[in-house]
Amino acid sequence: MTDISRRQLVKTGLLLTSVSALGYAPMAFAQSDNIGDAAKKLPREQLLFDVGWKFIQGHGADPTKDLGFGYGQADFSKTGNFKFAKAAFDVSGWRSVDLPHDWGVELPFVRDESGEGDNQLRSHGFKPLGRRYPETSVGWYRREFDIPAGDLGRRIWVEFDGAFRDVMVFVNGCFIGRNNNGYVPFRFDLTDYLAYGAKNCITVRVDASFGDGWFYEGAGIYRHVWLTKTDAVNLGRWESTVRSSLKAGVATLALATIVENHEAKPAAAKVSWIIRDARGITVATAETADKTIAPEDSVAFEAATELLNPALWSVENPNLYTATVTVETNGKARDGEVVTFGVRTAIFTADKGFFLNGKNLKIQGVCNHQDHAGVGAALPDRLQAFRVEVMQDMGCNAIRSSHNMPTPELVEACDRMGVMMMVETRSMSSSPEGLAQLETMIKRYRNSPSVIIWSIGNEENALQGELAEQGAKIARTMVALCHELDPTRPVTAAVNADNEKGPSEAVDVIGFNYHREFPDNFHQRHPERPVICTEDASDVATRGEYSMDWKRNVASSFDGDVPWKKSPENWWKFYATRDWAAGGFAWTGFDYRGEPSPFGWPSINSNFGIVDTCGFPKDYFYYYKAWWGKTPTLHLFPHWDWAGKEGQDIPVWVYSNLDEVELFLNGKSLGVKAMPLLGHLEWQVKYAPGAIEARGRKGGKVVLKERRETTGAAKTIRLTAERTTISADGVDIAILKAEVVDARGRHIPTANSKLKFKVSGAGLLIGVGNGDPNCLESDKGAERSLYNGLAQLIVQSKKQPGTITVEAYAEGGDNTLKATRMELKAMPAITRASVPPAV
Ligand code: GAL
Repeated sequence: MTDISRRQLVKTGLLLTSVSALGYAPMAFAQSDNIGDAAKKLPREQLLFDVGWKFIQGHGADPTKDLGFGYGQADFSKTGNFKFAKAAFDVSGWRSVDLPHDWGVELPFVRDESGEGDNQLRSHGFKPLGRRYPETSVGWYRREFDIPAGDLGRRIWVEFDGAFRDVMVFVNGCFIGRNNNGYVPFRFDLTDYLAYGAKNCITVRVDASFGDGWFYEGAGIYRHVWLTKTDAVNLGRWESTVRSSLKAGVATLALATIVENHEAKPAAAKVSWIIRDARGITVATAETADKTIAPEDSVAFEAATELLNPALWSVENPNLYTATVTVETNGKARDGEVVTFGVRTAIFTADKGFFLNGKNLKIQGVCNHQDHAGVGAALPDRLQAFRVEVMQDMGCNAIRSSHNMPTPELVEACDRMGVMMMVETRSMSSSPEGLAQLETMIKRYRNSPSVIIWSIGNEENALQGELAEQGAKIARTMVALCHELDPTRPVTAAVNADNEKGPSEAVDVIGFNYHREFPDNFHQRHPERPVICTEDASDVATRGEYSMDWKRNVASSFDGDVPWKKSPENWWKFYATRDWAAGGFAWTGFDYRGEPSPFGWPSINSNFGIVDTCGFPKDYFYYYKAWWGKTPTLHLFPHWDWAGKEGQDIPVWVYSNLDEVELFLNGKSLGVKAMPLLGHLEWQVKYAPGAIEARGRKGGKVVLKERRETTGAAKTIRLTAERTTISADGVDIAILKAEVVDARGRHIPTANSKLKFKVSGAGLLIGVGNGDPNCLESDKGAERSLYNGLAQLIVQSKKQPGTITVEAYAEGGDNTLKATRMELKAMPAITRASVPPAV
């Protein structure tokens, strides 16, 4: 029986019925296949426009080095006169790139300490981007593509998920439009500009001279681009919403969308919804009556249906549903889309914190920027999921997209993997531009179950201080827009002050950044206002370093050893022990380029991360794992390779959630200590080579042991991959760890050997890193020094299935280190529909 024949449609004006999943046999296909399958049947074509671009660096100040653009003042005098954007323009000197692409990460590091604060290169990772670096701050992209004659009459859009930062788009020599911010998606209707049954040419100028933030933000088209073709009668962009309300085991789904009619005659249209569960089984349907839409007008459609005993979305079981929304006229489907949603309740209270599906839950979150070793801001989709996995492994259940609208694939990963999100807009502003950005963000993500709260901005000190009156008004306008577009979620602002005035007056949930002297007072004075910690910690540690060394620009991994005396332990104890606080977000989950506080050159990335820029855990990762995670945890540090320090005191720490821990040096007990709640244990141990061992007990029984042994000389290179089989789709990646081991196969935690890599066969090396904030080696080279024992390689599949061989060997043929090779498999895969190369 088909889905359609199972439908029990009640064709009243505002429609409605539900079919329970009960009684249907489960179907044997994966959810994603099914969504793809459902999407394939839709009349809309959404083609990935990532592959086969040409790229050249332009110039921000000299038109003669910028394809002649802006030579005089007449460039915009005629729409169709842009010579450099015509197909005949010579692009033989341009190189090939695929998107997502960040040319910033390809640039050399430049020591330039001029300027002040946020404007310094220091704050952006010492990359030559900005108005003082015109020769490296502009990039041009170009792509030829065919539009079949049969597309005439469709609406054809080019859609950018985001680019950094100021974009101008030209098609077939015509200026199409511009976009001036780095994080909000934008699109242009190309329908009138295209040649049908012919070759077309799109040219995109991206200018990264201005930034949006005080951290590394990349440069170029760092998110996906799509070519979308719809019928002239089509669904409005991001207008389809599915809102659930849950009562006594029944979810009522409020379904809504907007249909646009771009035809010259009125359209009598109706909309239908098919709701499927994660297995692809239809569990409810709905349909509206016909409504007439005048030419160039749009009309809202609404319906409702019910789900009996819905599988709720939660952090443990992130159950998802899809709604296939289709608009038809005279029995013919004209446009459609698949919306992913979840059924759950998420409530912030003033006295008991946060509740997910009625259960009290502490938000154990991290803030992150989008930046990773090897690739910068241009993350392959799999890397988004990998980073979420790393965070989940330490018990993190929430991510704040600081300080900007996130990339879709991060939100999709959180939806799929059960991580909640605070989604933040870049500018706290009620200007048309600020509100347009906010509107896009909310419309784009309001169906995502992972999103539990919106943030209208971060640390707008002026709007909280001398401009507090204006700040309150601006926030009121923004909050009202959030509520109008999404009545289901509360709104907060990340405030680095006492929250008594300014934007705080308007928000639903009070957000504290740092300043732990304020929340208690605030709660006492305003017991009716929910509170969350929007940002705290900002501890610094450099992975594998155990003392603060201002000469080497490295920070100690022993907590509390930072100039501002903040630590994970210190902030988490505060929020963990206050029932009324919803929990919060640590600054940050991952290290990121820029903001190398408290250091300067040659530090090119932050030390705030709980993991480094590759995702390798620092020691305090395990503090969080112990107190955020659900499994018994025991972590002992530092390593035990302290040649030259024999007889000297070495601090030895343990993070654990067990009852007590006994420490041994070379088999001799150094005593048992009870583990303090939300704390850690410390010993001072006189160094002697050999081994330290921690034994953690629960209920009197040893349940975990951890050893750190003095290692021998480096003998062999070792490569390991988090996945050895990947899809041969040209986008999937394998993330490899490189290290060196001694003759007994033990990882050497202090090794800094320079390794070279060769990737051949069905894959490519797209980036390398080692998490060292002071390493000035290229992210794009085929070599990398280990940093405190580790380096990372990111290997991407090509489009052909086969074996990918990765070889690692030592610099200069150092034959004391044995080379290694490993094989990965790129398996046949379904690839997403893409714009083919022009013929
Ligand atoms: C916060 C800010 C973050 C980051 C952090 C570093 O005040 O919101 O973006 O700069 O400080 O400690």
